[in-house]
Amino acid sequence: MVALAHSHLPPQADTAEFEADVVEGLSAGRKRIAAKYFYDGVGSRLFERITELPEYYPTRTEIKILQDHGADIAKLIPAGAALVEFGSGSSKKARIMLAAAPELACYVPVDICGEMIEQEAIDLRVDFPGLKVLPVTADICRPFELPPEAKAAPVRVGFFPGSTIGNFEPHEAASFLRNAAQILGSGALLIVGADLIKSTEVLNAAYNDKAGVTAKFNLNLLTRINRELRGTFKLDTFEHHAFFNRERNRIEMHLASLKRQKVKVAGECFDFRAGETIHTENSYKYSVASLGALARGVGWMPAGAWTDADKYFSIQAFTYAGEPSKP
Ligand code: AVI
Repeated sequence: MVALAHSHLPPQADTAEFEADVVEGLSAGRKRIAAKYFYDGVGSRLFERITELPEYYPTRTEIKILQDHGADIAKLIPAGAALVEFGSGSSKKARIMLAAAPELACYVPVDICGEMIEQEAIDLRVDFPGLKVLPVTADICRPFELPPEAKAAPVRVGFFPGSTIGNFEPHEAASFLRNAAQILGSGALLIVGADLIKSTEVLNAAYNDKAGVTAKFNLNLLTRINRELRGTFKLDTFEHHAFFNRERNRIEMHLASLKRQKVKVAGECFDFRAGETIHTENSYKYSVASLGALARGVGWMPAGAWTDADKYFSIQAFTYAGEPSKP
């Protein structure tokens, strides 16, 4: 599989699954394609470029929060703990935590792309000689086994930066948190990066950059379908739409057809009305309270929250006290 810059999203499906998902999504009353399909080689590189755009504040703001408050966050981490990163990719943000919490016994980067985390582990062992680096290749949305050293640690600390939690529907975010609790066990700590609700202008600008990189990222999905699923999408007849839906606290990304047209994919024909869209992504924004409520619902108790001065982004910590009993 391709080295995904953003491989902490659910894994890339094989072509048969991609085809079935796209055909099903384009057959729906409201056309949709899952955001995980953005991340082919080109899409992953475009996402890397998005993180460097002046309008796209989340990545640099999260890094700044980790740099400014890493020592404070580390106070919640007991000596000898294991840090388990869900969808570690290049471990860039984990490095800040590892430097802030030198008493960690081991670091377990978990990612669907084994090749990337094995390579990264080699570099981490050089930079953090006292630390055991124990990569695990797995789908972070499903149960997986931790290495024995991590299981034996007094506490396991989950780390899920990047506001990827916002790309899950709220019920999927809840099941991710439930799965993380099962993997990390009782007494666990979880550190999550979440984008905060803010002004529509700032949010809309972040997903409608002037350089048009986000538009390219969105439209690349059609290029991928043309290449991998014998699609006939004409890229100049679709347009990138992104807007903040304040009722649902989410950025929605769509690809809008500029005219009435027919498109073939995998041998099937799909009709588009002028202005009809394919819904390609939701990016949910939370408040500290709303993510706290979602986490509490599955047994994670808020233990701390850190933001930047503008309150654009948050790092939130939770401890696991067991699944709440149903009324
Ligand atoms: C990966 N994820 C957190 C990004 C986001 O902001 O939801 C994906 C993205 N889509 C458009 N720009 C960035």
